[in-house]
Amino acid sequence: MDDRGVAIVTGGAQGIGSSCAAAMAEAGWSVVVADLDEAGAAAVAAKMQADHGVESFAHRVDISRADECERLVSAAANRIGEPTVLVNCAAYYRESSGLEMEVEEWAKVIDVDLNGTFYLSQAFARSLVAGNRAGCIVNIGSVSSTHSMSGKTAYGAAKAAVDSITRSLALEWGPLGIRVNAVAPSHTATETIKRLEEQGLLAVDQIVARIPLGRLAEPSEIADAVVFLCSDQARFITGQVLAVDGGYTANGAW
Ligand SMILES: NC(=O)c1ccc[n+]([C@@H]2O[C@H](COP(=O)([O-])OP(=O)(O)OC[C@H]3O[C@@H](n4cnc5c(N)ncnc54)[C@H](O)[C@@H]3O)[C@@H](O)[C@H]2O)c1
Repeated sequence: MDDRGVAIVTGGAQGIGSSCAAAMAEAGWSVVVADLDEAGAAAVAAKMQADHGVESFAHRVDISRADECERLVSAAANRIGEPTVLVNCAAYYRESSGLEMEVEEWAKVIDVDLNGTFYLSQAFARSLVAGNRAGCIVNIGSVSSTHSMSGKTAYGAAKAAVDSITRSLALEWGPLGIRVNAVAPSHTATETIKRLEEQGLLAVDQIVARIPLGRLAEPSEIADAVVFLCSDQARFITGQVLAVDGGYTANGAW
C-alpha cells in the first residue's frame, strides 16, 4: 500500500467518523483520530495501526475551541507529518422543538457543527498555505440541510451552513490547491441510530419507506465517498455536496 500522507478525521472515536478513519487507513493514509472522547479515539487509532499497518494516533480536541483546533494541526505535524487531508465529521446533535429549545442548546449545536468545522478548516488551510502544500477537506453534512425535519432546526441550520462554507471555501482556496467538498448522508446505521431504534425513539421503518434503495446507509458507504473525494480520482471536484442517501433527497413523493 502506498503511503498517501496524513489525514485528520474528527469525530473519529465512533460512528461514521471511525468508519472514515478505517477507510482512509485502508487506502494508505496515516490517520489522526481526533475527538472529545480520547479513550474511544485511542482505541480506533490502535486498531488502524493493527489492521492496516499505518501510523495513527489519537488526539483529544474540542473543535468548538479555535485554539484547540490549531493545536490539533500542530500535533499532527509534530507526531506523524504535515496533514494534507481533513475530514470534518465531529458533530453534536440533540432533538428539540423550536418552542422549547434553550438558547444554550442552540448555541452548542452551532458552536460544534458549524463553528468547529470552520475553525478547524481554517487552522488546517493556514498550515497548508504556510508549507506551500496542496490538500483537501471533506465536510460531513447531512440531508437535513435541504430536507427539514421537525425537532432538527438547529442541526439543519448548522448543516445548511456547512454546505455553504463548503462552496465558499472551495472558491477561496481552489487557487491555493485546496479542494473542499462535503458528503451529505441520510440516516446511517451507526450504533447510536440502532440504539435509538431499539429504544423505540426512532421509527426506522418510516424513514426507510422514503428511501428508494430501501434501507439505511452503512457507515462504510459514507466513508467510501469520503475516500473517493480525497483521492486523485476526484482531483477536479471541489465545492460539491455529494448526497449519499439511497435516493432520499430525490424523492418528492408523499
Ligand atoms: N448517523 C446518521 O444517521 C447521520 C446522518 C446524517 C449526517 N450525519 C453526520 O455524520 C457525522 C457523524 O455522525 P455519527 O452519527 O457517526 O455521530 P456520533 O454522534 O456517533 O459521533 C460523533 C462524534 O463526534 C464527537 N464530538 C462531538 N462533539 C465534539 C467536539 N466538540 N469536538 C470533537 N469531537 C466531538 C463525539 O465524541 C463522537 O465521537 C456527523 O457530522 C453527523 O451530523 C450522521
